[in-house]
Amino acid sequence: MSSSTGRLFRITTWGESHGGGVGVVVDGCPPRIAISLEQIQLELDRRRPGQSSIVTQRKESDTVDILSGVLDGLSLGTPISMVVRNEDQRSRDYDEMRDKYRPSHADYAYDEKYGIRAWSGGGRSSARETVGRVAAGAVAKAILSRFGVEIVGYVEKVHHILASVDPNTVSMVDVESNVVRCPDPQKAEEILTHIEAIRKEGNSIGGIVGCVARGVPAGWGEPVFDKLEADLGKAVLSLPACKGFEIGAGFGLTDLTGLQANDEFEADENGVVRTRSNNSGGVQGGISNGMPIVIRAAFKPTATIMMEQHTVTTEHNNTTIKGRGRHDPCVLPRAVPMVEAMVAIVLADHALRQSAMLCGTST
Ligand SMILES: Cc1cc2nc3c(=O)[nH]c(=O)nc-3n(C[C@H](O)[C@H](O)[C@H](O)COP(=O)(O)O)c2cc1C
Repeated sequence: MSSSTGRLFRITTWGESHGGGVGVVVDGCPPRIAISLEQIQLELDRRRPGQSSIVTQRKESDTVDILSGVLDGLSLGTPISMVVRNEDQRSRDYDEMRDKYRPSHADYAYDEKYGIRAWSGGGRSSARETVGRVAAGAVAKAILSRFGVEIVGYVEKVHHILASVDPNTVSMVDVESNVVRCPDPQKAEEILTHIEAIRKEGNSIGGIVGCVARGVPAGWGEPVFDKLEADLGKAVLSLPACKGFEIGAGFGLTDLTGLQANDEFEADENGVVRTRSNNSGGVQGGISNGMPIVIRAAFKPTATIMMEQHTVTTEHNNTTIKGRGRHDPCVLPRAVPMVEAMVAIVLADHALRQSAMLCGTST
């Protein structure tokens, strides 16, 4: 199993949902970057269970410890290791899942692959694994702030409720103004009511997280195999429950003609080039073009629901299963910091790769 990603900015996450804890080793962070424990904790608090009535009620403080790589608030250039201890596990909620596979969860596939699985809590397939990603994402954001890059994620759609969000102007303050993390206040209210109703039914719903990276200079990303949208797509699709990825106008481009779809260039009075539209989502030929990088990630409805469904036992006998325990009725609000983290991790890697390629030369 690959638990590592990135070339120059490389992260390795570890830990099971019901094990001792979860964490990450971040390798390749340049020295003397300001690393704030408070900032890392703030990002983890946005991911934390129990933060509102519409997420899982598992009670985890998710308090992070930095074990290495940081001195007096500055990175040392050595591996940064971070740990979060697991605090609130109720293994009995998973008793039935020892012998039965949850529909659309990872239980069956893990058993087929490994012949063994951490049945209690879902092991590595649990969203708890993303603690390490979000902590690493905070380090990536600290590197990116040196380049003037700002990343904002937001809930754009839940089930059939579509919000109106302008990626050019959306702010973290707007996103954090409500527990849904939807910057459109009216739609946020509708979504909140809808998730509450679905939770009471014992059902679940999915939706779309949007994310914008503003201030990325032209030139990041590698042509061919490591095209920026390919790396972003892989990183975001590696998140649990993420089943779709789009950049710019994405699948919508198929409805347009070239005349409509092309992003026409223009130069401002200082000769700075930009495009009149941004259907490319800030990436052309796999390389950033200086426009905001805009992506969308589709998350499916949470697999574990409190309703009876058909399944099979580990002995392959037909049966039924009804979920128990504390699950997210909708993963979207907590997925926002996870998507931001994955975008930041990819961009930090490509920022370092571009700096390494230029190696002191200027274009
Ligand atoms: C923020 C977040 C929270 C999640 N919470 C749950 C949960 O409470 N219960 C559950 O069954 N799945 C949850 N998931 C999704 C599962 O981890 C995921 O669906 C499962 O591992 C199967 O992987 P796949 O959906 O990527 O195929 C969550 C995902 C995210 C992003």
